Amino acid sequence: MGFAQTFSFAVALLARAQRGGAEAPVSFRYGCTDGHRQFSFCDTQLPLERRVEDLISRLTLDEKPQLLEARFSPLGNISRLGVPQYDWGGNCIHGVQSRCGTGTRNDTRCPTPFPNPNHLGAAFNESVWHGMGRVIGRELRSLWRQGVGENHPPTELPPIGLDCWSPNINIVRDPRWGRNMETPGEDPLLNGRFGVAVTQGLQQGEDSKYLQAVVTLKHFVANSLEGTWPGPGGPPSYPGRGLCPGGQCTRHTIDPNISAYDLASSYFPAFRASVVEGGALGVMCSYNSVNGVPSCANKWLLGQKLRKEWGFKGYVTGDSGAVKDIFTHHFFVPSMEDAVREAVEAGTDVQSGPWPSGRPWSVVGAYQTMIPKLVRSGNLSEEALDVALRHTLTLRFRLGLFDPPEQQAYEHVSPDVVRSEEHVAAAVEAADQGLVLLQNRDSTLPITGGVVAVIGPHATARFDLLGNYLGQTCPKLDDGGKEQFSCIESIEEAFRNLTGSVVYAPGLPNVTSNETGLFASAVEVAKKADHVVLALGLDTGSVEMEGQDRKSTALPPGQVALFDAVRAAGRPLTVVLLNGGIVSMSHVKEHADAIVEAWYPGFFGARAIAKAVLGHTNRWGKLPVTVYDESYQDQVDMLDFGMTKSPGRTYRYFTGEPLWPFGFGLSYTTFSLKLATSSEVRVAQAGGKAVIKVQVTNTGPRDGDEVVMAFFTPRAGTVPAGSRAALLRRQMFGFRRVSLRPSETAEVEFEVEAEKLALVADSGDRVSFAGAYDMNLTNGAGVSQSATAMVVATQGETQPYVYEPWAPRAVQAEQALVV
Ligand SMILES: *[C@@H]1O[C@H](CO)[C@@H](O)[C@H](O)[C@H]1NC(C)=O
Ligand SMILES: *[C@@H]1O[C@H](CO)[C@@H](O)[C@H](O)[C@H]1NC(C)=O
Ligand SMILES: *[C@@H]1O[C@H](CO)[C@@H](O)[C@H](O)[C@H]1NC(C)=O
Ligand SMILES: *[C@@H]1O[C@H](CO)[C@@H](O)[C@H](O)[C@H]1NC(C)=O
Ligand SMILES: *[C@@H]1O[C@H](CO)[C@@H](O)[C@H](O)[C@H]1NC(C)=O
Ligand SMILES: *[C@@H]1O[C@H](CO)[C@@H](O)[C@H](O)[C@H]1NC(C)=O
Ligand SMILES: *[C@@H]1O[C@H](CO)[C@@H](O)[C@H](O)[C@H]1NC(C)=O
Ligand SMILES: *[C@@H]1O[C@H](CO)[C@@H](O)[C@H](O)[C@H]1NC(C)=O
Ligand SMILES: *[C@@H]1O[C@H](CO)[C@@H](O)[C@H](O)[C@H]1NC(C)=O
Repeated sequence: MGFAQTFSFAVALLARAQRGGAEAPVSFRYGCTDGHRQFSFCDTQLPLERRVEDLISRLTLDEKPQLLEARFSPLGNISRLGVPQYDWGGNCIHGVQSRCGTGTRNDTRCPTPFPNPNHLGAAFNESVWHGMGRVIGRELRSLWRQGVGENHPPTELPPIGLDCWSPNINIVRDPRWGRNMETPGEDPLLNGRFGVAVTQGLQQGEDSKYLQAVVTLKHFVANSLEGTWPGPGGPPSYPGRGLCPGGQCTRHTIDPNISAYDLASSYFPAFRASVVEGGALGVMCSYNSVNGVPSCANKWLLGQKLRKEWGFKGYVTGDSGAVKDIFTHHFFVPSMEDAVREAVEAGTDVQSGPWPSGRPWSVVGAYQTMIPKLVRSGNLSEEALDVALRHTLTLRFRLGLFDPPEQQAYEHVSPDVVRSEEHVAAAVEAADQGLVLLQNRDSTLPITGGVVAVIGPHATARFDLLGNYLGQTCPKLDDGGKEQFSCIESIEEAFRNLTGSVVYAPGLPNVTSNETGLFASAVEVAKKADHVVLALGLDTGSVEMEGQDRKSTALPPGQVALFDAVRAAGRPLTVVLLNGGIVSMSHVKEHADAIVEAWYPGFFGARAIAKAVLGHTNRWGKLPVTVYDESYQDQVDMLDFGMTKSPGRTYRYFTGEPLWPFGFGLSYTTFSLKLATSSEVRVAQAGGKAVIKVQVTNTGPRDGDEVVMAFFTPRAGTVPAGSRAALLRRQMFGFRRVSLRPSETAEVEFEVEAEKLALVADSGDRVSFAGAYDMNLTNGAGVSQSATAMVVATQGETQPYVYEPWAPRAVQAEQALVV
């Protein structure tokens, strides 16, 4: 089927969808339907492996790569075998990124939007993350069944599939990275817990036999820069040399050297946890190289680490254009054919992105045009191709796509699950839990009466609440941009709806403007009010975004000027900040009465902000990132991916004074912590476990949520002096969120396992060092309890005890990956 046909197919379905109760024909979605049941691969009595092999054996060499191209026509429609098209490559970073579906009452039902992942990270609540995964998985099933298209310009993208290119679990390495909003935070443990929870919620649904949907963890590995930064790379030609061949550092060209220590302790753990514990069945290899090898051509990364050592059983896709980058940006190989060969041999099962470049999505992809030639000329073994088919087809079978649909629970998912009351409630709950109260002098908040002035460039923002990777948000789609966000409540409207006495002024036309022309009216409005709420921050349309890092972390100067002008009105002043990457704001911290960090809080975000500021809720979260001051960006090199070099990156290594530390966050009530078990636990180095319990009491006047975080620090002498691990200041090893009424106490437990206290040796081995570890159980805001863990050497064990060796020497030498 040609591209035009794919498009008209989608349009036809959309038209049908508008008539209500739409459903894409079963034969467009399932194999082994009418007239095609005679093949062995359709025999549900046979073991899955045999069915997959049977199907592979029936495909011709030219047909095979058609099943391995994401988003390309003809999307693997092999009609002679009754194998329908399948589109790899939908997204669902915080909701399904598709167009709206149609409910049984012919109502337009758009995917349920959650807050951005940095807001979700701040909730420190695994139920929120698991719940989002579950909502996304169910809605994906329903929208796929309706044949709804991806929500992505150009509009011609195909109907969404059942895999999601999500979650993004790269750590926040640098505050300037343009995609910080997409990922839960800077801590490998936090990102790992997020990855595990989202994976399990999304993949495992109500039908225990079939997968509900499939995650695709991204971006493997160390995707942490967008660009453009000047770099010292060699000439843009084969063989590529230096940090960024061509001298322009972007996510496509960057080739950082990363030590085995940093890979094993910072860049890998969230992926490892999501695969080993979460059972994630998809991974996306990143655009960048690491230590001289592009991720999608990296046999060690995709073969040795991911599959052999972590036991990964799913599929790998290249990021869109990443296979091309092996040749055109890294100059790792002399031709595009070689890039394709390298990618397939390394284990990049699916390729996305057009070749030649610059053409629309509809063009046939490089796998399809080049793989048959490579195999016929003997330059690529057909077996390497079959391996990729095995990885991808196995998942399609496990999704039930070659079994009779009528027996499958997911085929009966109603179109009314999409943005159902239950799903909306989950998203509202999430929005309530991720706001962080950074400052509250003299109990400025909550505002309990009087006139509220809502001022600032974000006061009436709708789109700017949403962040990036958006499904269709409002039922209307057709007026070139504005109308499609008109159903979103702005911050000003939310206050108006909840209090009735609101005055408003914009103050600035946008977040980067330096115009002072609107200041006077903003000051006038402030003077009419008893409280001022100033909505400031960044946006994903001009400041930080995919493909664009910030050059400065400072609050844009025009906003600082507006802040000062409004402050002069002398009213209690609360700053509400929208942002992905953190905002350095020393001046605001010094002079604001209250500060609310709202991230990009999403569709239900304005309401969550108003409820919290007005004291209808008291469910604050904690910072999942360190807020550095303005000088930090001059002390760290954007191109340096090392974590430990002074002044250090993230709370784990940073030796300076942050504006606010990781884990910080206030509440309207107060809490106390009390150890309920002995302050010293002993655990055997090889697999030992103990439990510490802490009582959390709400000692203040109001209901409230609290997060208790458990950190450890190896005591001096436990870790070899001079090793990189000796630079680790603290590491979180657990967290628990609780909701308590006044005077109520809850007991929370933390498992102290020797493996959780494991560190990484300079060799890259993950090991347990015998010795003392100081533990700190804290609410991140000054309330804490200390304890000690003694990790005891097991008799006869060598010191240190190795939990996970780095890699066999031979592989290390071959790919020169140890630096
Ligand atoms: C369904 O709704 C669309 C517009 O939303 C309308 O054009 C169409 O007539 C409706 N169909 C039925 C069967 O009610
Ligand atoms: C697959 O191709 C066949 C033959 O060209 C066509 O009849 C069918 O509609 C296509 N299926 C889809 C889902 O486009
Ligand atoms: C990375 O390591 C390689 C091999 O040791 C070395 O040639 C190269 O200069 C290093 N690159 C950077 C940017 O340090
Ligand atoms: C196969 O490899 C040979 C030798 O490296 C080369 O001359 C030829 O062009 C390659 N063919 C293809 C299709 O890549
Ligand atoms: C809030 O107020 C606006 C108008 O100010 C109104 O259009 C909207 O429906 C209200 N939203 C809710 C959720 O009540
Ligand atoms: C506002 O001023 C700053 C600092 O002088 C400058 O970098 C920025 O480009 C200005 N913004 C606009 C929109 O001109
Ligand atoms: C913001 O406003 C300024 C005028 O102060 C204008 O020059 C600039 O283009 C605007 N930026 C955006 C992204 O609209
Ligand atoms: C954690 O999140 C779930 C789901 O949103 C919610 O029901 C629960 O109350 C939250 N826990 C706390 C302590 O806030
Ligand atoms: C524990 O951490 C908190 C902040 O995270 C800090 O205020 C406190 O001093 C620490 N306690 C100990 C005993 O180190």
